[in-house]
Amino acid sequence: MMSANTQGDTLCFFINGKKVTEGHADPETMLLSFLREKLRLTGTKSGCGGGGCGACTVMVSRYQPATKTIIHYSANACLLPLCQLHGAAVTTVEGIGSSKTRIHPVQERIAKAHGSQCGFCTPGMVMSTYALLRNKPQPSLDDLTEALAGNLCRCTGYRPIVDGCRTFCQETNCCKANDGAKCCLNGEETADAPGDEEAGKTPELFNKDEFLPMDPTQELIFPPELILMAETPNPQTLSFHGERMSWVSPATLEELVQLKTRHPGTPLLMGNTNIGPEIKFRGVVHPLVISPGRVPELFQVSQTTQGVWVGAGSTLSELRSLLEQLLARLPEEKTELIGALVQQLGNLGSQQIRNVATLGGSIASALPNSDLNPVLAAGSCKLSVTSSGGRREVPLNQDFFVGFGKTALKPEEIVVSVFVPFSRKGEFVGALRQAPRKEASFATVTTGMRVLFSPGSRVVQDVSIYYGGMGPTTVCAHKTCDAIVGRTWDDETLGRAYDVLLEELVLPPSAPGGKVEFRRALTLSLLFKFHLAVLHKLSAAKLVGDEPPEKLLPLPRDIRRSRQEFQPVSESQSEQDPVGRPMMHRSAIVQATGEAVYCDDIPRTDGELFLALVTSSRAHAKIISLDASEALKLPGVVDVITTKDIPGKKVRQMFGYEEELLAENEVSCIGQIVCGVVADTKAHAQRGAAVVRISYQDLPDPVFTIQEAVQKSSFFEPRRAIERGNVTDAFSSVDQIHEGEIGMGGQEHFYMETQSMLVVPVGEEAELNVYVSTQWPALMQDAVAETLDIPSNRVNCHVKRLGGAFGGKVTKTANLASITSVAAWKTGRAVRCVLERGEDMLITGGRHPVLGTYKVGFMSDGRIVAADIQYYTNAGCCVDESVLVIEKILLHMDNCYNIPNLRGRSAACRTNLPSNTAFRGFGVPQTLLVVENMMNDVALVLGRPADQIREINMYRGPSTTHYKLEFSPENLLRCWDQCKLKCDYSARRTAVDQFNQQNRWKKRGMAIIPIKYGIAFAESFLNQAAALVHIYKDGSVLVTHGGTEMGQGIHTKMQQVASRELHIPATKIYISETSTSTVPNSCPSAASFGTDANGMAVKNACEILYQRLEPIRQQNPKGSWESWVTAAFFQKISLSATGFFRGPDLYMDWDKMEGRPYAYFTFGCCVCEVELDCLTGDSRTVRTDIVVDIGRSVNPSVDIGQIEGAFTQGLGLYTLEELNFSPSGLLYTRGPSQYKIPAVCDMPLQFNVYLLPDSHNPHAIYSSKGIGEPVLFLGSSVFFAIKDAVAASRSESGLVGPFPLDSPATPERICLACASSFTQKIPASEPGSFTPWSLNI
Ligand SMILES: Cc1cc2nc3c(=O)[nH]c(=O)nc-3n(C[C@H](O)[C@H](O)[C@H](O)COP(=O)(O)OP(=O)(O)OC[C@H]3O[C@@H](n4cnc5c(N)ncnc54)[C@H](O)[C@@H]3O)c2cc1C
Ligand code: FES
Ligand code: FES
Repeated sequence: MMSANTQGDTLCFFINGKKVTEGHADPETMLLSFLREKLRLTGTKSGCGGGGCGACTVMVSRYQPATKTIIHYSANACLLPLCQLHGAAVTTVEGIGSSKTRIHPVQERIAKAHGSQCGFCTPGMVMSTYALLRNKPQPSLDDLTEALAGNLCRCTGYRPIVDGCRTFCQETNCCKANDGAKCCLNGEETADAPGDEEAGKTPELFNKDEFLPMDPTQELIFPPELILMAETPNPQTLSFHGERMSWVSPATLEELVQLKTRHPGTPLLMGNTNIGPEIKFRGVVHPLVISPGRVPELFQVSQTTQGVWVGAGSTLSELRSLLEQLLARLPEEKTELIGALVQQLGNLGSQQIRNVATLGGSIASALPNSDLNPVLAAGSCKLSVTSSGGRREVPLNQDFFVGFGKTALKPEEIVVSVFVPFSRKGEFVGALRQAPRKEASFATVTTGMRVLFSPGSRVVQDVSIYYGGMGPTTVCAHKTCDAIVGRTWDDETLGRAYDVLLEELVLPPSAPGGKVEFRRALTLSLLFKFHLAVLHKLSAAKLVGDEPPEKLLPLPRDIRRSRQEFQPVSESQSEQDPVGRPMMHRSAIVQATGEAVYCDDIPRTDGELFLALVTSSRAHAKIISLDASEALKLPGVVDVITTKDIPGKKVRQMFGYEEELLAENEVSCIGQIVCGVVADTKAHAQRGAAVVRISYQDLPDPVFTIQEAVQKSSFFEPRRAIERGNVTDAFSSVDQIHEGEIGMGGQEHFYMETQSMLVVPVGEEAELNVYVSTQWPALMQDAVAETLDIPSNRVNCHVKRLGGAFGGKVTKTANLASITSVAAWKTGRAVRCVLERGEDMLITGGRHPVLGTYKVGFMSDGRIVAADIQYYTNAGCCVDESVLVIEKILLHMDNCYNIPNLRGRSAACRTNLPSNTAFRGFGVPQTLLVVENMMNDVALVLGRPADQIREINMYRGPSTTHYKLEFSPENLLRCWDQCKLKCDYSARRTAVDQFNQQNRWKKRGMAIIPIKYGIAFAESFLNQAAALVHIYKDGSVLVTHGGTEMGQGIHTKMQQVASRELHIPATKIYISETSTSTVPNSCPSAASFGTDANGMAVKNACEILYQRLEPIRQQNPKGSWESWVTAAFFQKISLSATGFFRGPDLYMDWDKMEGRPYAYFTFGCCVCEVELDCLTGDSRTVRTDIVVDIGRSVNPSVDIGQIEGAFTQGLGLYTLEELNFSPSGLLYTRGPSQYKIPAVCDMPLQFNVYLLPDSHNPHAIYSSKGIGEPVLFLGSSVFFAIKDAVAASRSESGLVGPFPLDSPATPERICLACASSFTQKIPASEPGSFTPWSLNI
């Protein structure tokens, strides 16, 4: 064996065409941190650090000497060890184009199609698409959505990204109606594809004729030096040594075996997709890893007559493409297993994961919900393993998977290759899985099943059934197999098999992962699905005579052409005036090139430190001691910050309650910040934080759930109540009374950029610069000043842009900025604090979970006469904005309905969970779900369509809300009517009912949901805004205002306002940042009021300036803008002005139960249609039509972006996003692997948005309306469409009338609510007889 270089070798690779040599590469360094911290290539973003979000996507290229080809693949830089890149060429977003030289067509198209809002996900989207195009210049739409499946975006709803990128696709934008038979391509239109008679009348959001063509000459060439390197085999063992880990890369199998013999149990690092997350998230430390990536035997493929041997080092993408080739080449009967593997591989992880994760790694990881292992085992695959003891073959069977992450392999054994047998005649293999999200998600239950029939019969000769997700590792249902073997494959045999299976695969009620009933039901329904598939195959082989049952086709997935309609500007509007036009987000291009600077992209300053936080591990406890001595001994650690270091206020006051910045004596939730460790690097600070020892004494009776809080009267005061009419009396005069309830889970903001801040002491007179990702710079300034006990004029807070916020970057950010400023104050050095995704999710709370109970009285004709609703929110351990949230809950509880007697009560429950805070919609998405569920129940009780009940009860004519605000619902009714018309409601309703009659296991559902959303702050002072506009001597204009740019496009709109008011092109106007030194005392960018308030302030400042220039214009009417500005300067006219907007005077008097808390209402309506798989609970939104009244849109592309993004966030809230807490109050769901936000696979297949034409709003700038929040609730139309489909499924089991379905309507809840014969077989565990894995908070 070649001896490893003890000094470590020199790592050599290329980034963006430039050679990188690293003499001291640390094996623990991932490419992402190397790019961002060392090379200052900050275009590649960090969103999760664990391969789950795609923000860090780069392209890796390698030369393959055997085939003399270059391969390109996308990969997550956060999981790519630097040391693995030896000999590779990496391309980052900076390498493909730049605004300074030339942008790449991918960058251009995503930007110009309005696919970049906050822009944080954009470089990742660009790189995934770019890597796809490098391999397939004209991809299909399926290729595109597959490439983007692992890239999360929290802003856009994906539609514009797909629309931008699909311009590269082969196919036209066919509507795909009627499977293409009668569609736009042959000149025909259907109800599914709105008539083209309207197309052409409405303007387009972007013009694809403007797009740059793809130009392959623009691509970087693969470095010839790397080709030479690859062609010249290096027999040397490579080694790299870091602070805690060494890396050895042998060149031969022999060496590998020797290394493994000397270091048994040392991991073989292949794709690092299991080892990496273990190190990062579970704190596993490996002093040594072996990287066998250069051992040729691990990558060899050889075919025999019986099957194919595949090298264990093959990536899952390579395996898939090999199997696809075999699938195409071999006769069908030989490819049953191959086909099943291909199918499973298509759903496993994301493209980026599959491009690096290996077959051997997947098998050896023995994950409980591995997708491949059950199929490989069911398919009788075997392994060829080697060690110093020699080679042996190991069957992949029930004896191989021995426990969580454990196999029958000996610690020194290496899997060299895997044998995948060809199937035989009469053999069928199936692979089925059910996951919380259709793509890029670990499965809840996953299975591989194989059956072999005696020749020419339907008698089972052999069968094997394996499941993942049903135990600590892959499990075999051998008793079930025994019950099947030797028998005829029919309903009777299978019926017996279900019973055996039920007994065989038992999960204890507290099993890790929860969802026990669902998982057990899935084992049955997946077997049933396999049964049906086999019956169909037997039928095709003419081995069953009777008509085979319903064919279970997968849910539809073809994306259709969508429509986005808005009113064009009037013909008389000047060409130069951009107001009302779909102007691209002003930073979209630099966001797409990676040049846009987010907080953590700011270069490190000299001597800068990093702050890592230490949080409580107990939900309710006294702090007995805090020992940081071990941390202080670690390399790089500089100091530890505790509450004693805070010179000023140690607490925040809200509604009379105090919140400590750093816990001193007591903690009240897991995740509460206790102290922080500052060190020279992030890694050192994190290592320091990990060894701070805090000892606790638990306090009795922590409260976690709403039920517990109600029982113990644990509330934050005040509670609120409101009543119109006389509810109690009214109940006595109604025909029917119904009582119901609905629970709704919380929601994590999941802004793609985690909480980030940098505090830089200026060095004199206590001055500090605070760079922070916040929606409210002035609050940061106040908070830092009072924490440090210095005047606000010493704190200058800067916000360039945020990578998303959604309400989550206000109060919690203020606390974090305060703590960071204490660290900077104490050390006298710049301190940066950027939360990891897991910390962010743990610490910062989110949307309030709500329990709503209601009693509703109504007449037989559907009129609702009285309703009494009680809301409880789970506020967590601090009051934060919870009282304001429960107020907004009551103020919106009428939604669009004129219920004459209406009573609401709301309370914020105080619990020992992290404190919840503002989140887009601020309680409205919760209150309205309860109200609309009540409407649905009334419809179900009366047996009438829900849309009729809604219609009957809507406000009509001059109306008054329950808090006595007068308004006109005319535009609400117009939205409703237009929406029904646009989506062809009644014909589609009929089609849905027909579909349901024809399908037993698949159901469709439809729902139409309206909204009336109040805009502005009831706290009147928050409605003010200011702006500062400078005109420079060269005529360029700098606008500053109080709003922050977080993707919602406020800077773009302000640029449009200034352009109109100053009568100059928007290109002359620049917006650099929001800062407290330019615009003081600003209000938060929230409540959908940013454009309304700041727009008026910018307008005011521009009007002042324009007026000042008036005399000069009159003197020289033909002069240019620049000439007027120059003249004004020489005439000593000030070219700088502030603008101010007082805002509407709003109020709410809770004692009198009346007020004017909103300036006006935004109205909207949404129709959704979904398709359900009743056996698995899976669903797909087939079509969405939204009509929204936003007055005269200032920027239709930005506003449509807000509508689509908010709808998608709502779709996530109501159907996908589920927070799980342990029984001791620990948040389990701390990253994208556990918490699923909508991905591209959740996009409605057809997603139409219409802005209501001819609407005017006298209360806001240029007659526009606020739109940031209202549409989020319309995502609930997916929930109600699901409920509609579930009702259809229940009716098959004879169940009618109202039924409970809490939000989110996850596959688990849907499947159980469908009440199929399979779910009904599962015995429910007695509540209270066990501790569930997770709390229902
Ligand atoms: C974001 C994300 C999503 C994922 N989604 C899914 C999913 O949907 N379905 C699913 O099934 N899996 C999923 N995975 C898991 C993924 O499939 C496994 O992590 C992967 O297959 C492991 O392969 P690797 O090459 O990365 O292994 P590594 O992480 O490099 O190694 C893992 C283990 O395998 C051992 N090992 C590797 N190769 C050999 C060998 N040749 N011989 C002996 N031991 C070996 C190593 O010693 C180590 O213990 C996901 C992972 C991530 C990070
Ligand atoms: S940061 Fe790499 S995938 Fe999320
Ligand atoms: S634009 Fe995609 S996350 Fe903001």
